[in-house]
Amino acid sequence: MNLKDLFIDFFVSKGHKQIPSAPLVPENDPSVLFNTAGMQPLIPYLMGEEHPYGKRLCDYQKCVRLTDLEEIGDKTHHTFFEMLGNWSLGDYFKKESITYSFEFLTQVLHIPIEKLAVTVYEGDEKIPRDEVSAATWKSLGIPEARIAYLGKKDNFWIPGDSGPCGGDTEIFYWRSEEKVPHDFDPNDERWVEIWNNVFMEYYQDKDGNVSELKQKNVDTGMGLERVVAVLEGVDDNYLTSVWKPLKDKLETISHKTYEGNENAFRVIMDHVRTSVFIAADPAHIRPSNTDQGYILRRLIRRAIRYARNLEIDTMSDFLEQLALVVIDEYQKYYIELSENKDFVLEVLKQEQNKFAKTLEKGLKVFEKIASKTNFIDGETAFHLYDTFGFPIELTKEEARERGLDVDYEGFKVKFLEHQEKSRTASKGKFKGGLSGNSEIETKYHTATHLLNAALKKVLGPSVHQLGSNITEERLRFDFPCDHKLTDEEKQKVEDLVNEWILEGLDVQKEVMSKEEALQSGAECMFIDKYPDEVTVYSIGNVSKELCGGPHVHNTKELGHFKIKKEESSSAGVRRIKGVLE
Ligand code: ALA
Repeated sequence: MNLKDLFIDFFVSKGHKQIPSAPLVPENDPSVLFNTAGMQPLIPYLMGEEHPYGKRLCDYQKCVRLTDLEEIGDKTHHTFFEMLGNWSLGDYFKKESITYSFEFLTQVLHIPIEKLAVTVYEGDEKIPRDEVSAATWKSLGIPEARIAYLGKKDNFWIPGDSGPCGGDTEIFYWRSEEKVPHDFDPNDERWVEIWNNVFMEYYQDKDGNVSELKQKNVDTGMGLERVVAVLEGVDDNYLTSVWKPLKDKLETISHKTYEGNENAFRVIMDHVRTSVFIAADPAHIRPSNTDQGYILRRLIRRAIRYARNLEIDTMSDFLEQLALVVIDEYQKYYIELSENKDFVLEVLKQEQNKFAKTLEKGLKVFEKIASKTNFIDGETAFHLYDTFGFPIELTKEEARERGLDVDYEGFKVKFLEHQEKSRTASKGKFKGGLSGNSEIETKYHTATHLLNAALKKVLGPSVHQLGSNITEERLRFDFPCDHKLTDEEKQKVEDLVNEWILEGLDVQKEVMSKEEALQSGAECMFIDKYPDEVTVYSIGNVSKELCGGPHVHNTKELGHFKIKKEESSSAGVRRIKGVLE
């Protein structure tokens, strides 16, 4: 029988009522993005409100913890997990709670008592040492040498920085082939915590003031994936039956084995499972740039990024195939998965379409930058985000893998600036807000040079400037060409310009004679019209043109370039209108 069923059956047999798992996105608590523990939806009842199901409750609760998103990829971390819990709302207390836990572990799960150890609260200046819990454990056969008394850091539990709280007793299991030592050392990592029983009798407010609750409660939590790993005798959570169907599917899709590719497998499996659960939640979360939607976006994009490591075609239906396995596995326990199946699949597909297309390009640009510097500045990080859809965390991760630093603060400044701009623009104030013959026109001058260079690369060296016009809203560029540009050509041109922007090329100004300018290979259309002394602007080694300017100092200042229109200007002449966003 499944661990969830065993747990619920046991506590129901002890007079508990099973309550349904609450939604992942808390319904009345804007202080957290997701439920992080089974007790979270029960806070009002722990505080004294009467629960419609009574005083003894049990459930399995879906939880998402994000503090360690970057740690996903090791053996034990998950973003989504299920927490098994039982509660007493002012009913039984320490003795019964410990006795139930002990009975479940030793008689239902048949864990030998020799493999168990416990910690109890050693107390502080206000709360006495928890002798009741220690005595109960001893009466059940846990020897003194297997009981450790620990302080507030380890054995006092509170949801975040305020709420119902209290000392706890934690149960550990010896997960090793080696002989169980006589004495329990809680710092020895071979002892793993499997269950936490919190005795909630206090309330702590945000200022740290502690008062007694109306009633004494019990709140317990047992991480399902960890306990399954213990029961199945593996030290890698991803090797348990919980993950097997998904692992098998991923092996089939990737034609690779889990062994040897653990990191990518774990990230993909974990993130797909979490994404499915977030999208299936009644709140109908879609990927976005804020709150839960942003987390969902990050998870999906990170899964796609890692799929690439397994050489999976990132545009294939691999996400859908994996999501269907998750839905299939869990729908018996979480009806919302089957009810919202279409929505989940649509969300995954849409986000994949948005991201997978730009991922390759973004990584290529990233590589280029990485080969030249050991520092990703805020502007570049923002462009990776804005143009290629790299969440900042992805940029940080890519950077870390290559030993580069990222200016996170700089990114945030750019991000906020951009938000402010979009807000103002959408209010229609953007135009008037800029000063006269402006910064923006200067930017368009430089963008025009980049566009010219990009067109040459894509269409051939015969492209050159036949006409140019710049306003505060756009640039316009005419050039010889015998055909309407295809979508692919336009895309290539746009990408090239954006890559150069992102590369942060310096714009150099030199004054020289017309002769020298021509010899240096600078491009010049109407040579006769220029004086003997000319200015030549070069942009990295991408472009070199005779020009009066003005120009920006570095292409990074330009933002994102977009072709708005491509049309005929006259016979054999095409016209592009482009904007900087
Ligand atoms: N609320 C307790 C925990 O999450 C049981 O560990």
